[in-house]
Amino acid sequence: MIDAAELARPDIAPADGRLGVVCVGLGAVATTFIAGVELIRRGMAEPVGSLTQMGTIRLGKRTEGRSPLIRDFVPLAGLDDLVFGAWDPFEDDAYVSAVKAGVLDAARHLEPIADQLRQIEPMPAAFDPAYVKKLDGPNVKADRSKRGMLESIRQDLADFRERHGCDRLVMVWCASTEVYVEPGPQHADIGAFEAAIDADDPAITPSMLYAYAALLDGVPFANGAPNLTVDTPALRRLASDAGVPICGKDFKTGQTMVKTVLAPMFKARMLGMEGWYSTNILGNRDGEVLDDPESFKTKEGSKLGVLDTILQPDVYPELYGDLHHVVRINYYPPRGDNKEGWDNIDFFGWLGYPMQLKVDLLCRDSILAAPLALDLALLLDLAQRSGMSGIQEWLSFYFKAPQVAPGLYAEHDLFIQQTKLKNTLRWMMGEDQITHLGVEYYADDYLAED
Ligand SMILES: NC(=O)c1ccc[n+]([C@@H]2O[C@H](COP(=O)([O-])OP(=O)(O)OC[C@H]3O[C@@H](n4cnc5c(N)ncnc54)[C@H](O)[C@@H]3O)[C@@H](O)[C@H]2O)c1
Repeated sequence: MIDAAELARPDIAPADGRLGVVCVGLGAVATTFIAGVELIRRGMAEPVGSLTQMGTIRLGKRTEGRSPLIRDFVPLAGLDDLVFGAWDPFEDDAYVSAVKAGVLDAARHLEPIADQLRQIEPMPAAFDPAYVKKLDGPNVKADRSKRGMLESIRQDLADFRERHGCDRLVMVWCASTEVYVEPGPQHADIGAFEAAIDADDPAITPSMLYAYAALLDGVPFANGAPNLTVDTPALRRLASDAGVPICGKDFKTGQTMVKTVLAPMFKARMLGMEGWYSTNILGNRDGEVLDDPESFKTKEGSKLGVLDTILQPDVYPELYGDLHHVVRINYYPPRGDNKEGWDNIDFFGWLGYPMQLKVDLLCRDSILAAPLALDLALLLDLAQRSGMSGIQEWLSFYFKAPQVAPGLYAEHDLFIQQTKLKNTLRWMMGEDQITHLGVEYYADDYLAED
């Protein structure tokens, strides 16, 4: 394995021209993302929740006082240079879809930008209700064969690029969670994958066709849902070979974000745990899709996975060897996009005395997800201009089930993920890594300078 320090920092091409952001799915997350960018561009809102827009990055020693905004430090595409497109099986344009999603206040945040939103009409989707059982819409590809859908997505990308004069594109999966699909021989390599497309094999899902089309056309791909999608040997290899960055899976927004902050706390203090029960009520279309057991199975996998790697029950059997971790999502229409997530944690301390922690998170799902979609679009584009290809583990900060190289365990702790992200940006720009060692501040000659 190469020593990271030996890896030359990349040459980063400038972010000149227009960046097309094509969203698969034009539902609650995508419309909240697109409308939010438009409002921010017009100075009508702040990009709250976006690390790339509001976050700073410390450079050098604490005494140097260098903490620029991330967007001033790395050459990101500007918000004015973004152009949006989307696919969806429903015909609603971005304005109608945003009104129906009910996330943003129509009078305050949709009417002033209605003209802009109405221009974003969804391209016909590569959609098959077999993979999203609760939905069916009319705006779908005419040729329903997998080969036909793939070719049509590629044509859409070419047309979009041409129509909007885009210099670069990124694709973000903001569509529904597909039913659970096991990785199989069809996903082992590109030959098998291609043959499976021609055979209309059920193991090839629509999301895989979008991701494959993106990779074939050099378009970075982020997966905001837990579907297998681009996390297969065939597509991982293609992404590396073709020089295209990829990342996923499943935006880490509400309950899991909190879980990956709290779990490291228990572990850091060597407090034991008997159980962690998480339940949610959610009333948007995503909640309806997840009401189907097969889509929920996909989601459950990404929500359940985080505790094991943080708590390491194999290393600490006396603390976490008998942990009951349960996750539930219940579709409850009155709440719309405003999810309520409860967590009950049964933990124990010194001499095994039991204690409890209860968390009740009343959040707005798409309000939390939209800035992640923005950051991912901008950072994937940066990665591509930096010649970084394949899995972008440094973007695991944004995901519940981060994609990592085969054989590596995923890092779930939110603050380790944040450190990884910022250190990657420092490395890209030729700045020193921040290790938090800090002994130098206590060396005699350093103290003497005071
Ligand atoms: N906080 C969050 O909101 C959050 C967090 C993590 C993950 N996610 C995931 O993000 C995705 C989007 O969430 P949402 O709330 O916007 O859901 P949504 O139901 O409002 O929007 C999803 C859209 O995708 C469309 N769609 C489904 N299959 C498609 C296909 N094959 N091609 C094109 N479009 C397709 C649907 O018609 C729908 O309009 C979901 O998979 C959800 O699980 C959301």
